[in-house]
Amino acid sequence: MHPDCERILLTEQQLKTRIKEVAELVNKDFADKTPIIVSILKGSVIFCADLIRSLTMPVELEFMVVSSYGSGTVSSGKLKIKKDVERNIDGKDIIIVEDIIDSGFTLANLKALLLERGAKSVKIVTLLNKVARREYDIVPDYNCFDIEDEFVIGYGLDYNEIYRSLPYIGILKRSVYES
Ligand code: PRP
Repeated sequence: MHPDCERILLTEQQLKTRIKEVAELVNKDFADKTPIIVSILKGSVIFCADLIRSLTMPVELEFMVVSSYGSGTVSSGKLKIKKDVERNIDGKDIIIVEDIIDSGFTLANLKALLLERGAKSVKIVTLLNKVARREYDIVPDYNCFDIEDEFVIGYGLDYNEIYRSLPYIGILKRSVYES
């Protein structure tokens, strides 16, 4: 275990097993479709890479970078798009892949935006769901794990851009971010 970790929350094996299970649910629902997977960078990149390799239908892959700076503030306004998808999504089935839902700001706005652009359907797959932190009305269609309000790192998730490459989800020691 990394010395900055308090403890491991989800092991490599737990992640692998659950992601396979969730991929099977997606496989059932999208068996006759060709969805566009929209991976929200950077956090979702490891999860997305593992998830889509367990999908059996043809998929297209797109990436977005968005800013959730507005989260939680009264005048949050619209989502800031730093990198957009590179094709027209009109009439397409979209599956947004996220690493974590916190306040729900990012996904509430992103889902609305993609529907506004004419997406036929927009579903959400998330690795982690911090229900206790929710401020916006967003419920993932596929969720791997509900987690408590802890500072999680690894498997794509960072603190100051570090720890994304850990193969498990760990809880960051308080001393690391409080020092
Ligand atoms: C995280 C996460 C979601 C968002 C969730 O991204 O990947 O996009 O925050 O928070 P919300 O539900 O309160 O909107 P972050 O801004 O940390 O970027 P990163 O994925 O590049 O680390």
